[in-house]
Amino acid sequence: MIKQEVLDNIKKYEQDHLLKYYDELSAEDKKVFEEQLNQLDFSYIDIFKNNDSVHNDSEDVYEPLGAMKLDEINSRIEEFKNAGIEALKRFKVGAVLLAGGQGTRLGFDKPKGMFNIGVNKEVYIFERIIRNLLDVVEISGCYVPLYIMTSEKNDADTRNFFKEHNYFGYDKKFVYFFVQKMAPSISFDGKFLMEDKHKLCLSPNGNGGWFSSMISSGLLKNINMMGIEWLNVFSVDNVLQRIADPVFVGATVLSGCPASAKVVKKASPDERVGVMCRKNGKPGIVEYYELTDDMRDAIDTSGDPLYNYGVILNYMFKVEDLVNINNNSLVNHMAEKKIPCIDENGNFVSPEKPNGFKFETLILDMINMVDDCLVYEVERSKEFAPVKNKEGVDSVDTARELLKLNGISI
Ligand code: UTP
Repeated sequence: MIKQEVLDNIKKYEQDHLLKYYDELSAEDKKVFEEQLNQLDFSYIDIFKNNDSVHNDSEDVYEPLGAMKLDEINSRIEEFKNAGIEALKRFKVGAVLLAGGQGTRLGFDKPKGMFNIGVNKEVYIFERIIRNLLDVVEISGCYVPLYIMTSEKNDADTRNFFKEHNYFGYDKKFVYFFVQKMAPSISFDGKFLMEDKHKLCLSPNGNGGWFSSMISSGLLKNINMMGIEWLNVFSVDNVLQRIADPVFVGATVLSGCPASAKVVKKASPDERVGVMCRKNGKPGIVEYYELTDDMRDAIDTSGDPLYNYGVILNYMFKVEDLVNINNNSLVNHMAEKKIPCIDENGNFVSPEKPNGFKFETLILDMINMVDDCLVYEVERSKEFAPVKNKEGVDSVDTARELLKLNGISI
């Protein structure tokens, strides 16, 4: 049954089109649809109307934020490594793999982690990530609890893939899957889009929802029970990603900061990466499209660019601080997209031009919610091989080259 509150909201928000085909649905389809409608968050219409995602850039104050550079890290490497190993041995650190994205740019119809990056043999992205984590197991002698975020769209495929491949040698007792929430899509004229007569267009609600999804999945209890104090969150699509790397863990723990971010020196001033900075007095990330010419050209006393360190989606957060962050206050970013849906006659169409908005919260906005952040430089050629696009920049080919450069047989 559709809840009365939902029926009221349909009226209030002028979404009557949702029920246009309801009477002709089979009992089974009705059940599916009712479940979706009863969970539908109508406040997305308010976000659309108020366009909350639009920042008034002129109000944001950006300042540079220094990084701990490679020289300093290398000079303290043993100290950091020992502190990191100690934390890992005491199960103070968990790893969170963000694998709920749709990977539309890559154009692969399975979870991105299932992509075979191998040339002469099969080497899956998930496999590379687990191999890197197994290096840490070897150094510390302990498994790192690994939490894998999927979405409703790719959860079954991801779990099955891990099962089929025997977790790539990882101890499955330490692997926990959880599913992120979905967000509805809205047409340019403010209507919820529908994928079918009994289904809404839903997509993963962005990587910013990871911690609230962990809480909804009951995993915070598990974290607290194990005594985990830090979470190292990372993206699925960097095949050189070093996870729970003891030196990084140790540097973070010793820094006294509640968060840390791995960064690489920008390849060029115009590189399209988010750059670490101070935003309104707190650590933050300035997106490449927000970077003014003045900021781009500013240099420090040694002639290096002041905004020089790009994030690679590898962060550590103190659990205690994550619990205190109000996840509900994360901004919903609205992105114009081509969203396949049914038209006013109930026919399924795949638009050639954007026809609506998808909503996403972003993990980079969480950095702006903590009081301090250790900005930690890593060597780009050793730790950053993103697989975003089919070809060109940050693509399968560039990642393969970097894997070879690092002596990894593919
Ligand atoms: P991207 O921002 O590159 O998005 O994700 P994507 O969905 O993978 O790829 P495109 O933009 O459609 O081509 C960065 C990281 O955040 C995860 C991704 O899986 C990747 O690890 N992510 C993204 C989620 O876990 N959930 C989301 O809703 C979005």
